[in-house]
Amino acid sequence: MCSPYFKGKLNTMRIVIRLGGSVVATPVNTSLIAEYTEILKKLKMKGHELAVVVGGGALAREFIKIAKELGLAEKDQDDLAIGVSRLYAQLFAKMLGKAGCEKIPTSVEEATECLEKGRIAVLGGLKPGMTTDTVAALVAERINADTLIKATDQEGVYTKDPRKHPDAVKLDRLSFEDLPKVLAENKHKAGIHQILDPEAIKILKAKRIRIHILNGFKPENLLLAVEGRNIGTIIE
Ligand code: UTP
Repeated sequence: MCSPYFKGKLNTMRIVIRLGGSVVATPVNTSLIAEYTEILKKLKMKGHELAVVVGGGALAREFIKIAKELGLAEKDQDDLAIGVSRLYAQLFAKMLGKAGCEKIPTSVEEATECLEKGRIAVLGGLKPGMTTDTVAALVAERINADTLIKATDQEGVYTKDPRKHPDAVKLDRLSFEDLPKVLAENKHKAGIHQILDPEAIKILKAKRIRIHILNGFKPENLLLAVEGRNIGTIIE
């Protein structure tokens, strides 16, 4: 079956995957990491170009707390969180071996260089004051990605916050124009993570880069999404 994503080379896509720290790193789930490594290799073998942005999860937040308690500035707190996300990125890169790049990119430019070598780019955070969602959006913008897939801890985007409303319905498709209204309905307390950082949405909307939100605890979802199956929520 043909994927609806086709844009570049026949049957291949340029994909940015935003792998939630809440999925692979809270707590660290080694079997999930191993499964993702295999799936990433499989997708690369099929000719897809892949950039993966890994979040720092609970350990990053723990370091932010420690740095705060010690009176360090917000920038320093962020630097520590970025360090943690890069540690996870390094773990993935080592698992990928020759399919990945040894050095973890510290800029969008370096991520592009890794991709140009025909490797999978795995990165964590880039600079203080942003989220890994925004990092993923910036990479997607630079490489003119076909899609940004966010593997998160929810099945997709719902009509209302599913944790509060049992009658909430998952949306299969949604337009960038309708997204703000849906996100407003989904608003939860500050600190609880959101579906996608509004800053990232702004970048992706401007470039009309499709967003695919799916449940990252089922790594096979990644393959299904690339095949164009109807899972999660597609925003375009
Ligand atoms: P995220 O909240 O983006 O990652 O980064 P995460 O852990 O994957 O998120 P979930 O759990 O899947 O939702 C954690 C923190 O690291 C700092 C920010 O403080 C951010 O909130 N950070 C991350 C930066 O300052 N710059 C970056 O480029 C990335």
